[in-house]
Amino acid sequence: MEREEFIKVDDLEKQAWEILEKSIIKYQGRPVGIIAAYDTSQKSLNYDHCFIRDFVPSALLFLIKGKYDLVRNFLEETLKLQPKTGKFDAYIPTQGFIPGSFRVVCKDGVESLEADFGEHSIARVTPVDSCLWWVILLYAYVKATKDIHFALQPQFQEGIMLIMELCLATRFDMYPTLLVPDGACMIYRRMGIYGYPLEIQALFYAALRSARKLLICAGDEKIVDGIDNRLPLLRNHIRDHYWIDRKRLNVIYRFKGEEYGELAVNQFNIYPDSIQYANLAIWLPKNGGYLAGNVGPSQLDTRFFALGNMMAIISSLTSEQQSQAIMNLIEEQWEDLVGSMPMKICFPAAEKEEYRIFTGCDPRNIPWSYHNGGSWPVLLWSLIAAAQKTGRKDIGERAWGIAQARLSQDHWPEYYDGTRGVLVGKEARRYQTWTISGFLLAKELMRNPAHLALISFSQFDVENASQSCEL
Ligand code: GLC
Repeated sequence: MEREEFIKVDDLEKQAWEILEKSIIKYQGRPVGIIAAYDTSQKSLNYDHCFIRDFVPSALLFLIKGKYDLVRNFLEETLKLQPKTGKFDAYIPTQGFIPGSFRVVCKDGVESLEADFGEHSIARVTPVDSCLWWVILLYAYVKATKDIHFALQPQFQEGIMLIMELCLATRFDMYPTLLVPDGACMIYRRMGIYGYPLEIQALFYAALRSARKLLICAGDEKIVDGIDNRLPLLRNHIRDHYWIDRKRLNVIYRFKGEEYGELAVNQFNIYPDSIQYANLAIWLPKNGGYLAGNVGPSQLDTRFFALGNMMAIISSLTSEQQSQAIMNLIEEQWEDLVGSMPMKICFPAAEKEEYRIFTGCDPRNIPWSYHNGGSWPVLLWSLIAAAQKTGRKDIGERAWGIAQARLSQDHWPEYYDGTRGVLVGKEARRYQTWTISGFLLAKELMRNPAHLALISFSQFDVENASQSCEL
């Protein structure tokens, strides 16, 4: 029986690898990326692009397998697509930006890469996460290959600096978090996440820590000082103001409004009536907690967003205790957060009036579908990485078992629908490549947790960031 199951998993992995290999994009004869979906039954739209965020699990997987070429070429080519000078033209991407996706175009027999900074995406959403993922990936590449010289090349140092300048720039705002428009990350569509969404903040933190390691040897003081200054502020801001558990909910519930000045307890002027405290008080287990989706002026978005929470654990943005509490919550509210497919992109779904206001009546984001409470199998790898990081392997194994029993049979869909993720997503693509690579990556992380080092950071004191070039 055991042997039979083993063979099945083996076949499954073989099949997954075959699709992934077929999805590799070649540019001037070299592999440079992976298309978003290998679904020949539907019009490709922009699913024949290589999306930066979609490529991440594939990149980590290929690095683990020692197939460095693809990731190296990807980093080199996407760097060339980064605008290097700023123009005061609102419709032209600003300097430092990394595109959301790219594809190969062929004109008069000459191939070139065409970048998309959101121009071809629904609603022209801004892919803020791309430049953050790019730095995180560069760090992973250097860690895997131990080739720091790659990142020390002048064009790479310039690329990192431009990204850092873009993130650390002087602006109107006075929070340590990054202010972004709606749909600026994996949720690439309007979903009421404009402001300071958690996913962006967690990626920002990981990107700052990556850049700090990669830039340190180049010795650019201004940027390095800027990073050192921002890291502890960002970390404390998230740990203090985004955190929700029973204790914190009790504090929020008794918040007084309209306070101002240094001594204000309710710094963001959250009105307790704006949050569903009664439901939350029941839902939150005694030993559980999580980071809120967004915190801003009179705004506390209490939805649970999976990728932000998982990346916060992986990058040690959360404290050790908070990370354990998030895993406790997942365990206790398994049906809501994992259910029949790991895992929910966000919970709960916005319904009725909230759905209409948040999404602008988007028919794709109806309650419990797609970004609005759908289940995305790509999140499996981040759940398993967070489980490894917190020593909660049982959670990872349980999630893996669920995904492994369904994904291949359902032809590797992009997402699932329904409160429990039972239904294959209404408009889901089949053979979505980050579903496939996320599954394979999850397995590699389970086989050898040491691979986690490619993407994770320790709980070290960010105020005393290491002064060495050691990775
Ligand atoms: C959707 C998702 C986005 C993904 C893209 C390609 O727009 O929201 O996260 O990058 O599809 O798969």
